Amino acid sequence: MIERVVGSGASEDEQKDEELQVTLRPKDFENYIGQERIKKNLLLAIAAAKKRGEPLDHVLLYGPPGLGKTTLANVIAHEMGAQIRVTSGPAIERAGDLASLLTNLQDGDILFIDEIHRLHRVVEEVLYSAMEDFKLDIMLGKGPSARSLRLDLPKFTIIGATTRTGALAAPLRDRFGMVHRLEFYDQNEIEKIIRRAAKILNVQMSDMGSAALLAQRSRLTPRIANRLLKRVRDYADVNGDGIIDVRIATDALALLEIDELGLDPADRLILAAIIDNYDGGPVGVETLAALTSEERQTIEDFIEPYLLQIGLLERTPRGRKATPKSYKHLGKNKPKGRQAKLI
Ligand code: ADE
Repeated sequence: MIERVVGSGASEDEQKDEELQVTLRPKDFENYIGQERIKKNLLLAIAAAKKRGEPLDHVLLYGPPGLGKTTLANVIAHEMGAQIRVTSGPAIERAGDLASLLTNLQDGDILFIDEIHRLHRVVEEVLYSAMEDFKLDIMLGKGPSARSLRLDLPKFTIIGATTRTGALAAPLRDRFGMVHRLEFYDQNEIEKIIRRAAKILNVQMSDMGSAALLAQRSRLTPRIANRLLKRVRDYADVNGDGIIDVRIATDALALLEIDELGLDPADRLILAAIIDNYDGGPVGVETLAALTSEERQTIEDFIEPYLLQIGLLERTPRGRKATPKSYKHLGKNKPKGRQAKLI
């Protein structure tokens, strides 16, 4: 498997990366760049909740990784003046774990559940009434003598984050008063995020072009933009005087094998597999995973969304297809026979 700058693993590097992301995370909406529509909606909901002296309605944030779901949850907590507790779907193993989390909250607290689509079924069912009525239903004992107990809970807010709403059970999704899909950022916003990060990290960029160049190759994703900035800074420290310019940035990106569209070797491998082995597709994701030794999850969560966004990949009911833009980007010719068939 190819090591990825845009990767998803939980390696030591990724842990250091997490620390970097925390350092760079904006604390409030004033410093949060992009996602303007979501920001407007949340600001309104926060102002209304504060005016009424009530907790914020439950919020579900979804979209590809790295677009700022966790950041946004922390910003919401800051703007509400609320305490935030952070957990994740798979970390809550039993209903009792959830009960302990919820009974330890205070009025107005926020519970952030990352990867909420991975909640266990039994836990999810307990969460329903907790979210709806702020009540906790617990079963005591088993068999004929079993009794159920109803506990009052503090008035809390759940912020759930997921890469896919499709994987979320409808009854759970319906209990969120606000559901927001985070979109890819535009080039301009990413450039601003890079400049902001460079300032915080004390990285010097000597020309206008280098931030634009990095932005162009960041897959329209802040997390990746910040990572690239750090890698390019390493390169500038070792091969120059630590100052980033277009030449240094270009050389560093070439070393990382990141191309003009921000694709890395794993992205290109996926596209090449569709083109070379399946005449451009359609091909099922499982087959692609086997062909490229990538996990299906990695393909679906990390690789595909950006390729779809920039029109290099198409998703059809019969599988994934490479687009003409994809052939052009990889410098491959569409097979003659296939073109004839299409006409
Ligand atoms: N760093 C990561 N995401 C950011 C954002 N949306 N705004 C500002 N800085 C960021």
